[in-house]
Amino acid sequence: MLPYRPNTKRYQTPLEYRRCGKSGLLLPLLSLGLWHNFGHVDNFVNARKIIRTAFDHGITHFDLANNYGPPPGSAEEYFGKILKLDFKSFRDELIISTKAGWEMWPGPYGNLGSKKYLMASIDQSLRRMGLDYVDIFYHHRPDPDTPLEETLMALDLMVRQGKALYIGSSSNNVNQTRQAQKILKSLGTPCLVHQPRYNMFDRKVEEGLLDTLEKEGIGCIAFSPLNQGILTDKYLKGIPENSRAAKESWFLQKNEINKKILEKVNILNSVALDRGQSLAQMAISWILRNPVITSVLVGVRTADQLLNNLGAVNNLIFQEEEIAYIDCILNR
Ligand SMILES: NC(=O)c1ccc[n+]([C@@H]2O[C@H](COP(=O)([O-])OP(=O)(O)OC[C@H]3O[C@@H](n4cnc5c(N)ncnc54)[C@H](OP(=O)(O)O)[C@@H]3O)[C@@H](O)[C@H]2O)c1
Repeated sequence: MLPYRPNTKRYQTPLEYRRCGKSGLLLPLLSLGLWHNFGHVDNFVNARKIIRTAFDHGITHFDLANNYGPPPGSAEEYFGKILKLDFKSFRDELIISTKAGWEMWPGPYGNLGSKKYLMASIDQSLRRMGLDYVDIFYHHRPDPDTPLEETLMALDLMVRQGKALYIGSSSNNVNQTRQAQKILKSLGTPCLVHQPRYNMFDRKVEEGLLDTLEKEGIGCIAFSPLNQGILTDKYLKGIPENSRAAKESWFLQKNEINKKILEKVNILNSVALDRGQSLAQMAISWILRNPVITSVLVGVRTADQLLNNLGAVNNLIFQEEEIAYIDCILNR
């Protein structure tokens, strides 16, 4: 690939930045997640092209986790290599997050929420990415067996040690969010951002979590906004080769692409076309219409998918009738 010269107009695109909760940090309306398509099993040139395309269009935030790959850790390694090759002079323009909480290495210290696991994991992540610090470190999932204080004190320590600037949580419920924020405020390191799953087909966050985040001054970055690709037009004519559902993994099972879902997707697709959007764009705009959402965390397999998704920001306004009709389709 030719040496990278970032687009000099990257901050003059329609992509805007929203304040993350009550912090000083701004995040782009679309952020890029490296869960899939950035592991050693994937094509490095393609991965590099996607990251370049993102930055060229104003995406400053890249989301990783210790276990992203496969194999686990390899997305951080590829990303570290891309940073070294293309972004050496741009570290201060990037918000890089990583996480720990799922199984990462064998034995009792490579999983869940102990201080032992989290402190070792951030050091490993920094080494893999070749970084001195990450901008955001998340505890990846609630751990019912570790005292919340222990997990949160580990996150606070990372910030004090300069290994992370901010901390975040993922997949917590309302009570866990409230409890965690109380402890974190007492430690002096409030939670910056929460990362829940949120898309048209999974609206659990609307049952109190979004209100809680707003009240607590915590930002919200929604993951799997396209329901792993179901909220696009790609499955309307079968399961395409190379798609996530065609791959042998348990993340998106073929039986999730069923007749009932596809009927809804088909109608949603016509609503999107009437709005002058692709379904992927409408699914993203639908989330972003709520100002409590700081950013939508998309995953993509190609740079073209990313360019399509970026078009979502050109139409974030929904008429009341459109929202009511979409609700009606989703509740069928
Ligand atoms: N905190 C957590 O526990 C957690 C959990 C899951 C994810 N995440 C984060 O959220 C990020 C996004 O999750 P996700 O990958 O599930 O997100 P998603 O945006 O719902 O799904 C991404 C998939 O949708 C398809 N796609 C994307 N844009 C498309 C377009 N314009 N047209 C057609 N298909 C399109 C691609 O699938 P094909 O490969 O089939 O083309 C892509 O891989 C992850 O990378 C990760 O950073 C966090």
